[in-house]
Amino acid sequence: MAFGASKLRSNIELVVVLMSGSQETLADAVDLVDAAVDGAVEAAGTVVASAVDGAVVTAVGSAAGDVAEGGSNTVVEPHRHPGIFIAKGKEHMLVTKNLVPGESVYGEKRISVDGGVEGTKIEYRVWNPFRSKLAAGVLGGLDHIFIQPGKKVLYLGAASGTSVSHVADIVGPEGVVYAVEFSPRSGRDLINMAKKRTNVIPIVEDARLPNKYRMLISTVDVIFADVAQPDQARIVIRNAESFLKDLGHVVISIKASCIDSTAPPDVIFAAELQKLKEGRFKALEQVTLEPYERDHAMVSAQYRRHTS
Ligand SMILES: C[S@@+](CC[C@H](N)C(=O)[O-])C[C@H]1O[C@@H](n2cnc3c(N)ncnc32)[C@H](O)[C@@H]1O
Repeated sequence: MAFGASKLRSNIELVVVLMSGSQETLADAVDLVDAAVDGAVEAAGTVVASAVDGAVVTAVGSAAGDVAEGGSNTVVEPHRHPGIFIAKGKEHMLVTKNLVPGESVYGEKRISVDGGVEGTKIEYRVWNPFRSKLAAGVLGGLDHIFIQPGKKVLYLGAASGTSVSHVADIVGPEGVVYAVEFSPRSGRDLINMAKKRTNVIPIVEDARLPNKYRMLISTVDVIFADVAQPDQARIVIRNAESFLKDLGHVVISIKASCIDSTAPPDVIFAAELQKLKEGRFKALEQVTLEPYERDHAMVSAQYRRHTS
């Protein structure tokens, strides 16, 4: 069901999947979305609602963090992963190029540096590996993350969208991030973040049920998963069967204690990889997320949709 489209502009596609079982009504959802569109948020595009019983949605607001002038001491250089950068000043920091200059998403620091042409600036957002497992995986030495400018990414376990916002910076305006999160509370923050990051499609649904959001997603290049659930491998396999292109990739954060708090982490990681193999994946890489996260691994694998 689409609604409110006449009030919306065409440059943003905001997808709101209504959660069944929520306290809010469909009418509330419509009011909130319309209010957001009319109000301070320049949201727009097509508002799609599916499922009927309850509602997510939304409120206005974004955190404003400090912006530091990079100055002559800070140099921003491309990281070996396309779309990621390193700000080299007193310390070296991982940063992404801010898709929405002038705004922080969750209070993170911004760095503004000269943009080459006189009077122009480029703004970057600091990406903290203690707050984002993907950033920890990058610093942990993953050779390939497959998430790069122009790519279509399905992000499972989006939470309030802090890491998703950096993925949106990385894929840039030509890419898309489909961000799935089943907690209505986190989903609200995610939707708010997506109002300005128009390449993010927020989907407040259970990642165990890809059929519920099948109509919202085209084929993707990469699935990133951080749902921290014992059945994460099965969730990834189901989503791959529904959305991942042949020879596409997955990057998965595995928290050992979420799978089994009694077995040694290495045994758990190996067992998770075995499950992926049985789901038509070929394991590529595995790194530890220490020192940023304890007993976590990040693994990548390639999907073979067809047997040959
Ligand atoms: C470890 S947190 C994700 C943190 C996030 N990736 C980040 O770096 O900011 C796991 C998230 O997955 C969500 N989640 C767990 N199971 C899920 C499911 N079946 N479907 C959708 N989201 C799920 C949780 O609500 C939680 O927000």
